Amino acid sequence: MEKTTIFYYTGTGNSLWIARLLARELGNTELISMVNADINWDEIDSSVIGLVFPVHIWGVPHRVMDFLDQLSSRPVDYIFAVANNAGQVSNTLIQLQREMSSRGMKLANGWSVVMPSNYIPWGGPGSEKEQNQRFVAARIKISSIAREIQAHVYKPVEKGPLWQRIIFTWIYNLSFSHVHEMDKSFWADERCNQCRLCLEVCPCDNIVMEDNKLVWQNHCEQCLACIEWCPQEALQYGKKTPAYQRYHHPEIKVRDLLK
Ligand SMILES: Cc1cc2nc3c(=O)[nH]c(=O)nc-3n(C[C@H](O)[C@H](O)[C@H](O)COP(=O)(O)O)c2cc1C
Repeated sequence: MEKTTIFYYTGTGNSLWIARLLARELGNTELISMVNADINWDEIDSSVIGLVFPVHIWGVPHRVMDFLDQLSSRPVDYIFAVANNAGQVSNTLIQLQREMSSRGMKLANGWSVVMPSNYIPWGGPGSEKEQNQRFVAARIKISSIAREIQAHVYKPVEKGPLWQRIIFTWIYNLSFSHVHEMDKSFWADERCNQCRLCLEVCPCDNIVMEDNKLVWQNHCEQCLACIEWCPQEALQYGKKTPAYQRYHHPEIKVRDLLK
């Protein structure tokens, strides 16, 4: 059985859950976090490589873009991607394909998997029933994705409607260079008990504690792990999040994200 390595990036566990299900279906698969700075490339001998990550602002997140530079030096038979999202994959996989092509790599296949939204500034993830409907549909899709990976199917990547790809790609391009400073809207309310979990789950070590207060240091990647995993629900983003429900994938535990 050929060996697969799946590199995943996740804020609230959806991508990790997808990567785990794929690994189970494919067999002989190792999972490695893109956040893990200690990737030993000499030990990675897989002929199949997968990238599983969330769509951020209708495109490829910063962390995945950075990771592509590390990947470009690997000789691999088949590379696939799963861009999971809350219903608007838009141009993400086409963008990924172009970025890979400019680094000398070919994306064999790219799928969109719809999961509950973790973009809390725009509201919660939906009711439990709605979330479960998405998990059921995702499971079915992940099984069919695994079969296509095993058969080394090459086909055009999945994409959103043309209007989305035009308008939202324009917004992505405008906002991409400002993502790091978007942490200006984070704040901690009086429930913060300085447990420091947010410091631990932040993939880019962007949060520090100064004089018993949390400080975001403007190199945020907007994964929203800090606000979504806070056990006190004390972290907020803008004005509306005190009223919104927190989310992380129910089968993923915070220890799965710790570096
Ligand atoms: C900053 C940010 C931007 C997002 N932008 C989009 C988007 O453009 N389209 C979409 O469908 N979902 C978007 N989402 C929702 C996530 O892609 C989705 O909830 C995903 O399943 C989260 O995966 P994770 O738990 O692995 O981080 C966004 C989430 C965040 C945090």
